[in-house]
Amino acid sequence: MTATLAPSGQAATATAATAAAPSPSVLEIRPFDAPLGAEVLGLDLSQPLSTADFSRIHRAHLDHHVLVFRDQRITPRQHVDFSRRFGPLQIHVLKNFQLQNHPEILIVSNIKENGEPIGLGDAGHFWHSDLSYKDKPSLGSLLHAQELPAEGGDTLFANQHTAWDTLPLALKTAVQGLRAEHTYLAKYEELRSRSPWRPKLTQEQVDEVKPVVHPVVRTHPENGRKALFVSEHFTTRILDIPEDESKALLGELFEHSARPELIYRHQWQPHDMVFWDNRSVTHLAAGTPDHLRRKLYRTTIEGDAPF
Ligand code: SIN
Repeated sequence: MTATLAPSGQAATATAATAAAPSPSVLEIRPFDAPLGAEVLGLDLSQPLSTADFSRIHRAHLDHHVLVFRDQRITPRQHVDFSRRFGPLQIHVLKNFQLQNHPEILIVSNIKENGEPIGLGDAGHFWHSDLSYKDKPSLGSLLHAQELPAEGGDTLFANQHTAWDTLPLALKTAVQGLRAEHTYLAKYEELRSRSPWRPKLTQEQVDEVKPVVHPVVRTHPENGRKALFVSEHFTTRILDIPEDESKALLGELFEHSARPELIYRHQWQPHDMVFWDNRSVTHLAAGTPDHLRRKLYRTTIEGDAPF
């Protein structure tokens, strides 16, 4: 299915436009043959975004949850500027993997230079929603391909609205109204024991990522739909029920939320920019063979406290 969106009110905008106001583009939003995701054609992110284009991208993001912008030859500054149109940016707790002069950008990479990792090489190795361990988890993330491996390196996205909609009634009833703890530290030591990318955290960093509590089922603040909001990476326990029940329930939810029929698998192309909604999807980095290089830049936009 292809939906072509001609810019509405184009003539009026052109008449009223001042020299400084960017003109709207002819955008095409092409949904994937997948449970979520769409390609956005006809937009150059190195150019300032018009109000009309912003509205269309915003709408498409709410409708499709993952947007792919192809062949975006943009600078880190343009990446940050585009991301900021959607809200304030968050700074990752691992400051050692910030891009120089751009603290809002986290380098996601398995590359080592002079024996030292240049980025977070094991980001996303468990299903998660970015920064769900914060009081205000990420609204969305934007990941821009810098260097891609010849094989592997895919990113998988799972639709958590559909996960909720298709949850068996008994499970829906069991989890409705429950709250769960999320913590950045949940898998940190496990990852640290088998990878060179996890430095020992300072007390200041540990204090920055104190455990938080969020509803197991959240309501999307913009589209009003319910979504499962637990993840293998950051959710440690469900509150107010016995530990063994919490473990069993989370196990069932993790399994259900990553079922193949919920997933879009993104195979990266050079200069792709992928913008996903952390309020409605979880994601997973499928992994890259050790001998191949992969580098991407990521920004995360602050969202609301889940309800
Ligand atoms: C992430 O979890 O943000 C990184 C995903 C990836 O590297 O594919």
